[in-house]
Parts: sequence; structure tokens; C-alpha cells
Amino acid sequence: MATTAADFVPETKDLARLREAAAGCRGCDLYRDATQTVFGEGTRRARTMMIGEQPGDQEDRRGEPFVGPAGRLLDRALEESGIERDGVYVTNAVKHFKFRRDDRGSRRIHKKPGRTEIVACRPWLDAELDAVNPDLVILLGATAAQAVFGPDFRITERRGEVLDLPGGSKARDARAVATVHPSSILRSRERDEAYAAFVADLKAAVAVL
Ligand code: URA
Ligand code: SF4
Repeated sequence: MATTAADFVPETKDLARLREAAAGCRGCDLYRDATQTVFGEGTRRARTMMIGEQPGDQEDRRGEPFVGPAGRLLDRALEESGIERDGVYVTNAVKHFKFRRDDRGSRRIHKKPGRTEIVACRPWLDAELDAVNPDLVILLGATAAQAVFGPDFRITERRGEVLDLPGGSKARDARAVATVHPSSILRSRERDEAYAAFVADLKAAVAVL
């Protein structure tokens, strides 16, 4: 069993070539049950990169990040924050959908990716960071934040703070801001407050540009 995507990542900053190679990634077990790799989307000229957790059910079917319910909330929040989604490169920490079947076997239920999968998939994220070289990285939720800052990072303590993006494989000079995941807003009992706080984090983040 492979434990890293590293062997599948070509030495290139060409997003189209990276995407093509990612389609054949077998760097961890998640490719087996998922429909397809969901690579990041956007232009290499984007100054902002947003990183989510992993594709959901609809993203897995369509092959695009953030096109389901969480994506619709994200789109609305971006618009309200004065951010053009077209100008943002949107991706996920893990590029295959991890799920379990419900008891009847019909519905696919999201399972949180583990440290093994986050680490295995990290070479794709590094390749995207190197290709896009963003000035600002917005981390949506704990999985994305921990993929970048390590497993001890706590969103609750650091949300909205402007941080330096750790160097990773190559030196990068970018800021990073962690906030909640849009899905957590959909699940929240105080949805309006959670949404308003999310929009405030997005606005504060893009103010650094
Ligand atoms: N949640 C994520 O983290 N990413 C997606 O692409 C969709 C839902
Ligand atoms: Fe490769 Fe990432 Fe998919 Fe695992 S989740 S198979 S590392 S693309």
C-alpha cells in the first residue's frame, strides 16, 4: 500500500499537468472507493488560495471542489466579503472523498480524513502552492489548518489571526488565515452568528492583500 502521493507528483508548475497526474494518484487507499480525484480549481495567477478538507458527495461526482451545499454557502460568503471566486484558487487538503455507506448501503456518509491521508496527500497541496504561489492562504476548518500547521493547531484559538505560511518544501512568503469550515456553519444551531463570524474572518483575511 502506498503512503504518499510523492511518487505521483510530476516536477512541474503547470496546473493542467498536475491535475492530469493527480487523476491517477494512488498515494493512499482513498482512490479505491471514490469516483475520481477532485483537484483544485482556479488560475495560477490567483493571489488567494482557499483550502478545504476533502471533496464531499457532490464534488466526488462532479470532479470539482466546493460545488455542493458547503460550496453554495462559501460562494455566498465570498460574494458578501467582496471576493470574486474566479480570482481565488480553491482546493482541498485531501483530494479523494472518504465516506462510509449508511445501513441500507445507498447513501454515502462523509468520514473525516485521518492524519495518514492528510500527510499522504500533502505533496499535491505543495505542488499547488508552488504553482500558484499565492499571497494569502485561507484555511477552511481543522483538517486544512492542520495539514498546513501540524496536528496541534487549534482553530478555536487561532481563527482569524494573520499568520505566516510555513515554508513547506520550498520557501514561500505568504500569509495564512484559518477559519471554520463552511459545513460547520450549516450544522450550527446559531447559524446566522456563525455565518457572520465567517464572513468577518474572510474580510479580515483579504484585507492583508
Ligand atoms: N467540503 C470541503 O472541504 N471541500 C469540498 O470541496 C466540499 C466540501
Ligand atoms: Fe492520492 Fe490524495 Fe487521493 Fe490519496 S487522497 S489517492 S494521496 S490524491
